[in-house]
Amino acid sequence: MSGPEAKMKSGGVATNSKLVAAGPVVLLGPPGAGKGTQAKRLMARYVVPQVSTGDILRDHVSRGTQLGEKARAVMERGSLVEDSLVCDMVAERLNRPDCLRGFILDGFPRTVGQAQWLDRYLQTRLFETNGLRRVPLVVISIQVGYNELMRRLAGRRCCPTCGRIYNINFQPPREDERCDVDGSRLEVRRDDREEVISERLKAYERQTLPLVEYYRAQGRLHEVDGTQPMEAVMDEAMSIIENGNRL
Ligand code: AP5
Repeated sequence: MSGPEAKMKSGGVATNSKLVAAGPVVLLGPPGAGKGTQAKRLMARYVVPQVSTGDILRDHVSRGTQLGEKARAVMERGSLVEDSLVCDMVAERLNRPDCLRGFILDGFPRTVGQAQWLDRYLQTRLFETNGLRRVPLVVISIQVGYNELMRRLAGRRCCPTCGRIYNINFQPPREDERCDVDGSRLEVRRDDREEVISERLKAYERQTLPLVEYYRAQGRLHEVDGTQPMEAVMDEAMSIIENGNRL
């Protein structure tokens, strides 16, 4: 068996000639590894939502909600927002109907506590893949070294309107500082200042890196070299999602 039929066996559903990923995917990696870049591509490819805790928190901050007020200072110094706040926020997002076939988690989980919460949540969760069923989690760890991460984060620009990510060094917009899609003026994220970047990297090493061993021990971890071109990282991620530990 080959092609879409074989892929359906491994957990996907062919809809309108597009393969739709089924089930939960976690993109793990340090700040600047390319989680958001790949999540957006995978979302378009598989027609499942990107669930970025960083984006949801930034939205709360910009709307001045109670959660946003609590998160603002923590994010600006590069630390992690409290587990209980983040898990409640994620639960609300994952319970929406667009997550029924699956989702790409970008920036969550980030602590062992969050990963344990996700394990418990997924034990109760069914996905629509040729009928309702449990689908095992796939974890893709994107690996990039320190100097490259610093270069990427310093050059990152984001569109405040559509969320598209650029890089002035590797992936510049066609027109200087303007989004290719909607022409909005591109912005530098508030936490992409050098002193905050180094705090974020420390928080990653201290609190998130242990998740690599956590998921390796569960047999769910797939490692990808994130220094490859974006297309090559995407190809590997797709191959993992379609043929990974779902059989
Ligand atoms: P969040 O928004 O999740 O930020 P992050 O994890 O630090 O990750 P980034 O968004 O900075 O990087 P990325 O891996 O997505 O890289 P990107 O694709 O943009 O979190 C922000 C804050 O929110 C946290 O510090 C914390 O305070 C809070 N928070 C969020 N989640 C939380 C949680 N679960 N618990 C507690 N607190 C939480 O790429 C970076 C750049 O590199 C771009 O310019 C891109 O164009 C470029 N690039 C990407 N791939 C490549 C490639 N292959 N080659 C060359 N360039 C590339």
